Amino acid sequence: MAVTKEHVLAALEGVESPQGMPLARTGALSEVVAGDGKVFFSITVDAADVKAWEPVRKRAEEVVRALPGVRSALVALTAERKAGAPSARPPQGARPGPARGAPRGESIQGVPGVEAIIAVASGKGGVGKSTTAVNLALGLGALGLKVGILDADIYGPSLPKLLAIKERPQTIGGTRLKPIMRYGLTVMSIGFLIDEETPMIWRGPMVISALTQMLREVEWGTLDVMVVDMPPGTGDAQLTMAQQVPLKGAVIVSTPQDLALIDARRGVSMFKRVNVPVLGVVENMSYFLCPSCGTRSDIFGHGGARREAERLGVPFLGEVPLHMAIREKSDAGLPVVATEPDGPHAQIYRDIAGKVREQLKGVNAGRAAPKIVIEA
Ligand SMILES: Nc1ncnc2c1ncn2[C@@H]1O[C@H](COP(=O)(O)OP(=O)(O)OP(=O)(O)O)[C@@H](O)[C@H]1O
Ligand SMILES: [Mg+2]
Repeated sequence: MAVTKEHVLAALEGVESPQGMPLARTGALSEVVAGDGKVFFSITVDAADVKAWEPVRKRAEEVVRALPGVRSALVALTAERKAGAPSARPPQGARPGPARGAPRGESIQGVPGVEAIIAVASGKGGVGKSTTAVNLALGLGALGLKVGILDADIYGPSLPKLLAIKERPQTIGGTRLKPIMRYGLTVMSIGFLIDEETPMIWRGPMVISALTQMLREVEWGTLDVMVVDMPPGTGDAQLTMAQQVPLKGAVIVSTPQDLALIDARRGVSMFKRVNVPVLGVVENMSYFLCPSCGTRSDIFGHGGARREAERLGVPFLGEVPLHMAIREKSDAGLPVVATEPDGPHAQIYRDIAGKVREQLKGVNAGRAAPKIVIEA
């Protein structure tokens, strides 16, 4: 039997707020999204009341999970500040976001067992962020680290495709999700939880809850590094995500064109605003090596990202050429670092991974984050 919103609301009749009012009548409930055996909604409460509401959230999740036809249920608590409370959002150019979060650094909790979480981000879509994230994760794995990868790209989750994952994660004990293992990586994707048909209007407000659950209710095990493939751009959704994930650092991917570089600068600036150290910039599609004659052409004017990194005072991590093998392998779920480990591209990604590891050591040792001199 297909589960509907009405079934969910009926089941929630039995769930009460801490004050004893049926949850559906408290005004705290978001839109309920139900379909294909999956149910999502959030409960928005005052930040100060979160503790009291957590059992309500749990109970709501339990009753929904128990409904016939429900394969997974995701219920999140979203904290709302009281009017007049000190702003949790960064001051500059900030507008009300899709979700409100705590400022970084104070209340943001790490994920138990995970040593470092790093974001791979870009100011602009389509620059090869996901391809870089996957190959960087594999490169870190090749250095002997235990690595996980989390696909947080709400606009277009890529890991199911880039890692050829068709199966759904299983639940453990009905509550926690078991990640998928691929090429030695521990993998979780928002694509496993959100259907492509799910409308964007829903994705915005729900993303933080889905993200929190992917961080905290997945059996990540012990990891040295978790690489997070972020949604492209520097809008509110991205900023909020950068605030919500306990990041040790961020890697910015850019192509060498001027326009992409402006976006990359915004990316650097966004992480600066939320006090996440920028571990460096990768120039993707940096140059073209002709597969038949070996001639190199700098079709996009190569070197721009390196210069931009220098200008911004952040490390430059490396250049990845535009190459058919990278595209074909990547899109076929056969990332080069795993499937052509002796090839030139795998070496490039491993070098980038080595630099990222060095930068992380610097962050761990408490060295000051790279100084960023330019605002977007
Ligand atoms: N160095 C490269 N050489 C050739 N093709 C590449 C390279 N890097 C990425 N691509 C290809 O470019 C396309 C976009 O890459 P990818 O999906 O990694 O970008 P993205 O920044 O994550 O995009 P989105 O913003 O949509 O998430 C893919 O088809 C990918 O295979
Ligand atoms: Mg992507």
